[in-house]
Amino acid sequence: MKTIKLLSAIFIFAITFTSCTFEDEAISPYDTADQANGGIMYDKFWAAESDFDQTNTHLATLSAKGDFFRCKQCHGWDGLGNKGAYINRAPKTSRPNISGVNIYEMGQTKTAQQLFDALSKTAGRRSISTDLSTYNPTTGVIAEGDKMPNLTELLTDAQIWDLVKFMKEGMMDVTELYDATYTGTYPTGSIAISNVGKNGNATNGKNYYNSNCASCHGANGTTLLMEGMTVGKFTRTKANEVQHKVHYGQLGSPMKGAFSITTAQMKDLYKALANETDFPN
Ligand code: HEC
Ligand code: HEC
Repeated sequence: MKTIKLLSAIFIFAITFTSCTFEDEAISPYDTADQANGGIMYDKFWAAESDFDQTNTHLATLSAKGDFFRCKQCHGWDGLGNKGAYINRAPKTSRPNISGVNIYEMGQTKTAQQLFDALSKTAGRRSISTDLSTYNPTTGVIAEGDKMPNLTELLTDAQIWDLVKFMKEGMMDVTELYDATYTGTYPTGSIAISNVGKNGNATNGKNYYNSNCASCHGANGTTLLMEGMTVGKFTRTKANEVQHKVHYGQLGSPMKGAFSITTAQMKDLYKALANETDFPN
């Protein structure tokens, strides 16, 4: 009797153990995806800082027509498309229209698999072989150039999963970082940014700045000018963009991303940089 009990206990234990280990906890490609690589790719997927193969035959085309391929150009640093900070970023021969899709919201509401499938669609997407030299918003030759690129021609599945991971876990909710008032409609709308850093903690933000930024940008952010702006002015003017640069780096420069920075830390940093006395224009 005892032996039977013991055997059945072992049997039950073995079944439970096997099903847990080999079925319930199967590793999905999402689990192993790299959020940092996804965030870098969102800026420029073929950048040297990403894991894009730098011998890829399309590299020259991508670099020559960069704004037709950069996710951030069509969807915005804030992921809000033509209803976000890019509400006034009109197209020109060198860059397409901004998309109307809110991909920040998609990242929050769709499953990882749904996002992977959405990014991997081929119908209605633009082939890398499309001639973009004729793109011209003035004459109305825009249909092909405005299309989302066919990513399956350019990226591996693993890289698309990295983008999914970024969309779900790496894209910040900019409404946590600043207030914005959008007026009018694309491409002639406007944005007014206010309340940078919201209820963040300026002291913590200043400490973060001193440890992570001051060595290059100076104690008060005036050492390196970017587009003629100090760090303070840049943040107060382009609050939509700075969060991505701090999170994933300024590609092509020595500034690396703070890949594990949290929204709360970013908010504190913004709060410190909002202060015009500490971080002058
Ligand atoms: C040239 C502009 C352009 C570029 C570059 C671009 N997109 Fe898009 N994207 C669009 C447009 C337009 C749509 C809506 C039509 C569609 O789904 O094809 C879209 C749709 C999407 C969707 C929703 C798809 C769906 O099926 O609902 C996601 C997610 C997305 N883009 C993410 C990205 C990412 C990530 C990148 C960079 C790898 C990127 N896009 C690059 C224009 C662009
Ligand atoms: C290793 C040096 C280094 C560190 C550390 C560094 N940066 Fe930078 N940063 C740079 C360089 C170089 C540039 C590019 C300047 C240019 O465009 O001429 C840059 C660019 C920027 C830009 C402009 C981005 C743009 O789109 O042009 C901002 C804003 C910025 N840094 C803020 C910060 C903040 C905030 C930190 C700390 C979290 C930081 N940086 C850390 C070197 C650094």
